[in-house]
Amino acid sequence: MTAQFIPVDAFDLVVFGGTGDLAMRKLLPGLYRRCCDGQLTDDSRIIGIARSDLDDETYRSKVLEALHRYVADDVEPMLLERFLQRLHFVRLDAMQDDDWSPLHARLNGHDDRVRVFYLATGPSLFGPVAQKIARNELLTGNSRVVIEKPVGHDLASAEAINREIGEVLREDQIYRIDHYLGKETVQNLLSLRFANILFEPLWNSQAIEHVQITVAEDIGVGDRGGYYDRSGALRDMVQNHILQLLCLVAMEPPAALDASAVRDEKLKVLRSLRPITEFNINTHTVRGQYTAGAVHGEPVKGYLDELGTGGRSDTETYCVVKAEIDNWRWAGVPFYLRTGKRLAVHQSDIVIQFRAVPHSIFNEATSQIVPNRLLLRLQPDEGVKLYMMTKEPGPGGLRLKNVPLNLSYADTFVVRYPDAYERLLMDVVRGNPTLFMRKDEVSAAWTWIDPILKAWDALGTAPKPYPAGSWGPAAATALMARDNRSWLEEVV
Ligand code: BG6
Repeated sequence: MTAQFIPVDAFDLVVFGGTGDLAMRKLLPGLYRRCCDGQLTDDSRIIGIARSDLDDETYRSKVLEALHRYVADDVEPMLLERFLQRLHFVRLDAMQDDDWSPLHARLNGHDDRVRVFYLATGPSLFGPVAQKIARNELLTGNSRVVIEKPVGHDLASAEAINREIGEVLREDQIYRIDHYLGKETVQNLLSLRFANILFEPLWNSQAIEHVQITVAEDIGVGDRGGYYDRSGALRDMVQNHILQLLCLVAMEPPAALDASAVRDEKLKVLRSLRPITEFNINTHTVRGQYTAGAVHGEPVKGYLDELGTGGRSDTETYCVVKAEIDNWRWAGVPFYLRTGKRLAVHQSDIVIQFRAVPHSIFNEATSQIVPNRLLLRLQPDEGVKLYMMTKEPGPGGLRLKNVPLNLSYADTFVVRYPDAYERLLMDVVRGNPTLFMRKDEVSAAWTWIDPILKAWDALGTAPKPYPAGSWGPAAATALMARDNRSWLEEVV
């Protein structure tokens, strides 16, 4: 069965950083896919902005190359041509006031349509570019601005960016993207929790013993070393993606699937996180940094060699944080958050570990009861597994076995899995900010992250080394062992 897609209203999407990596790898391939599915009207325009001297034709050939590289299945010549015709290019140095008139001219006369400015630039440019867009009178009533993560590198810088943008844009015009919220399986978490009666009565500290959220990557920092070394795993992954996942697992049922209701509930979770400071930093966190090793059998460099600066760095490429949520639903249920680069596999999981049954009626020798577990695999091989105790078939006594009810998306739905950006870009055009971060969420997340960064600084200890291709430093295993738990690593 082919899905039917409703076309979105005609739009002009202006991409600052139009020749950059994000545009070429994610935004333009995503828009091409939406075009193939008939969601873009013929008169919609995508206007790439950069300082290079390109014209429409040279820009189109650049994008064509990118599509061949990043759109995995065969690109269709006719559809390609249709898509390329929507592409335009304007040379513009956003910081130069006298550079703006060509963009003005391109947009003029299209004031009635949706206008999106996508700032695929560094965070230091978000405020200044937004201000220039406003001062050059390019904002219409129907304009939106999308900004990428990271929004700042701590609470103060995030608030400064939000303030600067807020001077020229209303909050409902600002779309702070966190691409994890566009992932199918992340959205499926909402369906699983709120479209099934099964889980909600058990979704609390009475039935759930602890939760693990792991985003493991097998890649290193590659050519992003400059950015990454100033950021580290906590800022790069936990402050945004992983805290968003935690919010979706932990939030109360929103009254409706709308932007205010969902984001209000996420905010309450963020504000209920127990602070981690110098007093509990050692029991609640682990930092690591990869050294040379082998990933999938291939030798790879350590972090410092990959950076190539020849010096030392205390940036963490791995971290574990034991988060606790001080509210009625989750009191006493730790959420173990873990992420790292150059780990053994590329795999993101949420594991909900249920409590043991209060009493076993079975023969302990042949029928040990393993507590139920719900595994949500976000990537790759998206799916849901619910581990349950079942009788092993056959005579010779009653033997129990722990086996999963297995919902594999690939086997169940014969569809291509869209990239997160496809959904999110269409949401911006449709004016639906539900899956974007609100200003207060960003601040609340930094409010919890800042003391961790400060406590790490105060400790002054270097991140623990771990060999590339492993599951991280031994200290992460020890952190779990102290709580009588272990990491649930199921590689399929
Ligand atoms: C980005 C981080 O936001 O997410 C990267 O900056 C990380 O460091 C990436 O590799 C992971 O995204 P995904 O979709 O590949 O899991």
